[in-house]
Amino acid sequence: MADTNKTATLSFDNKRIELPIYAGTAGPDVIDIRKLYAEGGVFTYDPGFTSTASCDSTITFIDGEEGVLLHRGYPIDQLAGKSHYLEVCYLLLYGDLPTAEQLEDFESRVTQHTMLHEQMQYFFRGFRRDAHPMAVMVGVVGAMSAFYHDSTDINDPWQREVASIRLIAKMPTIAAWAYKYSIGQPFVYPRNDLDYASNFLRMCFAVPAEEYEVNPILSRAMDRIFTLHADHEQNASTSTVRLASSSGANPFACIAAGIACLWGPAHGGANQACLEMLREIGTPDRIPEFIARAKDKNDPFRLMGFGHRVYKNFDPRATVMKQSADEVLDLLGIENNPTLQVAKELEKQALEDPYFADKKLFPNVDFYSGIILDAMGLPTSMFTPIFAIARTVGWISQWKEQLSDPQLKIGRPRQLYHGETTRDYIDVENR
Ligand code: ACO
Repeated sequence: MADTNKTATLSFDNKRIELPIYAGTAGPDVIDIRKLYAEGGVFTYDPGFTSTASCDSTITFIDGEEGVLLHRGYPIDQLAGKSHYLEVCYLLLYGDLPTAEQLEDFESRVTQHTMLHEQMQYFFRGFRRDAHPMAVMVGVVGAMSAFYHDSTDINDPWQREVASIRLIAKMPTIAAWAYKYSIGQPFVYPRNDLDYASNFLRMCFAVPAEEYEVNPILSRAMDRIFTLHADHEQNASTSTVRLASSSGANPFACIAAGIACLWGPAHGGANQACLEMLREIGTPDRIPEFIARAKDKNDPFRLMGFGHRVYKNFDPRATVMKQSADEVLDLLGIENNPTLQVAKELEKQALEDPYFADKKLFPNVDFYSGIILDAMGLPTSMFTPIFAIARTVGWISQWKEQLSDPQLKIGRPRQLYHGETTRDYIDVENR
């Protein structure tokens, strides 16, 4: 972060406080308010952190007005079109694109860690069969710290590295096993001759009774879904991971916290909620009714897959995802998919409606991802686990960056208190 030699002056109560302004390589400047409480005796108030930069980062940049998303400087559409998920993982984790040799080494390290400790099967078997796979993932990932003691010391760079590889490698196995358990089928072990996305598809769909051939079209589409969800700057789940990690918690506990946060329908749970909404709408003639509900202040209903805290023009991931949905359905020979018809018509009608235009509400990445996953034969309950697999590398990259930041402090926001002031305790018989 570069000092701009500019300051912001805050005046109140006969006090005048000079606050330094810093510039990044892109994006708005920031006002450093760290001395504000010490010098002014006041806090800032920013629920939802709409104007607060919580950290100094070099990983991902978003320009919400222009619809730009860069990972280490590379635009997301180039990465989605030309790269693949594990190469993007390397880029996010280590800062640069790998050489062919580095990529081979990284892929082989990830591939060799895809199996779970055999005893972890008992965790899965302890859950109810109808448990949501996200509930199972929160539990099993948290439990990894009980199995992989040799990679929980955050002060040891080697252990941090091993934990990172383990999490990226095992997450597809955990998600696929949560699915297999929910449908009463045997767990399928990972296979090291398959690429990351193909391996995940096989663990979801293969059964011991017959051979399973991975469809390369589906594997490519899954890889692109992983790539598009790999990281997204300081979103709610990433900030959760950083906050959990700021106390010195172990990596498995931190990532479990991120998964728990991701599950919410305002965040990663939106992909499941969006497809369920499109199905509920059912036919294009019912769209006006749902748009009217979304606009009604007295109705809590929102158009799922619409809107974003940061993107106020378009979500560049949604553009790629929409193309991908068209390609996958076309290649699979699925014509006139009713959900896709509803999605396209809903997008059109909403974008023409002044309510959505005025509030800058556009389809986000999750508006189209569910249609692809549905076409692959995955149930809606698996949509958010797939997001969690993909985002694991983002969480880990941000976690590693935070641990190497010399300014690291425990995250501890303050509050504006509106409760009772001191009052004396009254014995129960006198109340
Ligand atoms: N449908 C209808 N109205 C909406 C929607 C929507 N999807 N999203 C926002 N609005 C309206 C709000 O009612 C609010 O109106 P008001 O100003 O009249 O009160 C205004 O737009 C601003 O909305 P906020 O909730 O203040 O915006 P915020 O930035 O806090 O929320 C969020 C962003 C959570 C994504 C929101 O747009 C939403 O709930 N969308 C639906 C869920 C969704 O798709 N989430 C996925 C996000 S992307 C991801 O995690 C990968």
